[in-house]
Parts: sequence; structure tokens; C-alpha cells
Amino acid sequence: MAVAVLTTADGRQKTALSRNFAAQWRASRAAGTPIEVGTANPPLRPARPEKPELRDPRDVPHRKPGSEAGRIALLHAVAHIELNAVDLHWDIIARFSGTRLPIGFFDDWVKAADEESKHFNLMCDCLERLGSHYGALPAHAGMWRAAEDTCDDLMGRLAVVPMVLEARGLDVTPGMIKIFKQAKLPDAVAALETIYAEEVHHVAYGSKWFHFLCGRHDLDPTEVFHGLVRKYFHGNLKPPFNEEKRAEAGIPPDFYWPLAGTEHARSG
Ligand SMILES: [Fe+2]
Ligand SMILES: [Fe+2]
Repeated sequence: MAVAVLTTADGRQKTALSRNFAAQWRASRAAGTPIEVGTANPPLRPARPEKPELRDPRDVPHRKPGSEAGRIALLHAVAHIELNAVDLHWDIIARFSGTRLPIGFFDDWVKAADEESKHFNLMCDCLERLGSHYGALPAHAGMWRAAEDTCDDLMGRLAVVPMVLEARGLDVTPGMIKIFKQAKLPDAVAALETIYAEEVHHVAYGSKWFHFLCGRHDLDPTEVFHGLVRKYFHGNLKPPFNEEKRAEAGIPPDFYWPLAGTEHARSG
């Protein structure tokens, strides 16, 4: 199932398949007859639609969020992130199928993949209401890099993807919600509020399984987290951090502040 999602290029088709498989998984778990996890050989990179054109982030034009074009660009960027997130969650399921893990690991990432699929569709609906669509603008080419860099390191994957990249989403989403409130676009506000509420859980799943694996291997979580982020994540983490939501997701301040770089003094 994971590989079928990863090898489907079209966004709406990919997310439909993803939601369908998630429903099948849930139903099988509820019936007490879980689908067998098995093993898989996922592609190094997921299939992508012909559009959007993927560009180096420096060549993706920046637009002012105060304009209609800017708001469309922002929604387009979020749609792109969500589509990558769908693949990232199915990829963690398929990629590390050789590692012995409790079934709850699969419950969590299937649920996260299902939610990302919903998020992608919500963003596409918003774009279409504004007369645009996913694929109308160029998008960030580097989004799969974290996945490739951590393709043989499950703890590295958990550290960088949910605990750094998705945690960053918690920091920036309230600002985005404000932009769409000011623009009086209640549908976009509602969609982003759904995303904001559900992303907390994805970060929490990352923290939960990261700590689980640290416990299994008798490792100090804080130290290991710092080492893995420095190894796989290029650059410093950017404050301000959403300390409240990060705490809710099980990411304590001593995980991220030491990675913020020396130019940022820790507040409070
Ligand atoms: Fe999402
Ligand atoms: Fe997410």
C-alpha cells in the first residue's frame, strides 16, 4: 500500500489512494484482524506530477503575502509541503519495514498520512476557489532531501522530519492563519486551523517513537537528537519557537534551543 501511494504521481490520485488505504488499515485494526505489515522496497524518490515545476528554493519567486498573488503562492507552498508529507509518512512505513516495531508505530504513521492527504486536498480546494490550482506555480525542489539523507537511519528520519520540519510548521502556521483572517478568507482560515490542530500529533508521534528507540538502545535522547539533527539538517533551527505547541507535542526546549545557533539568545 505504501509503495502504491509513493509511485502514484498525481496529487489528487495519490491522496485518494492514501485515504482509502488508511481506512482499510483502520477497519482491519478495529476488526482485530490487522493487515500484515510485511516488507517493501520503496522508490528512493516518490512519483511526482509533471507540474509544479520543481526549482531551487532561491529561484522560487517570493510574493508579498498582503496581495492576492501572495496568498495564492502561500497556499501553493503549503499544498506542496502537504503532498510531500503524504509521501514522507508512507515512506517511513515502507522504508523501515525491516525494523521490528510495535503495531502502534504503523497506526500513527497511517493516521498522519491520512491527515496529510486531507490537508493537501484542503489546500487544493482553497487554491481552486481562488482561481488557481496545485501545479500553477513553481515549487521547492529540496523537499525530499531529508528523506534521502535519512533513508537508512530511522532515528535520523524521526529527528529531522517530524521533530524538526513538522515542528517548524507549528511555529509558522499561526502567522499564516492571521494573514488569511486579515484577507477575510474564512475557508482558508478553517483549513489552516485543521492543519495546525492535526500537525501537533505528527510531531508527537515523532517524539514518541524517537524516545521509544532511544529507550530500546539505552541512549540519551537529548544528546542523540542534537547529533542527528546536526548530521542531517543543514543549518540552524529558526526561532521564534512555538514553545506551547512544541511542549504539547513532547519536544522540550533543551531539544531545540541548543540548535538555534549562537546568534540567538535563549529567552526567559
Ligand atoms: Fe499536514
Ligand atoms: Fe504533518
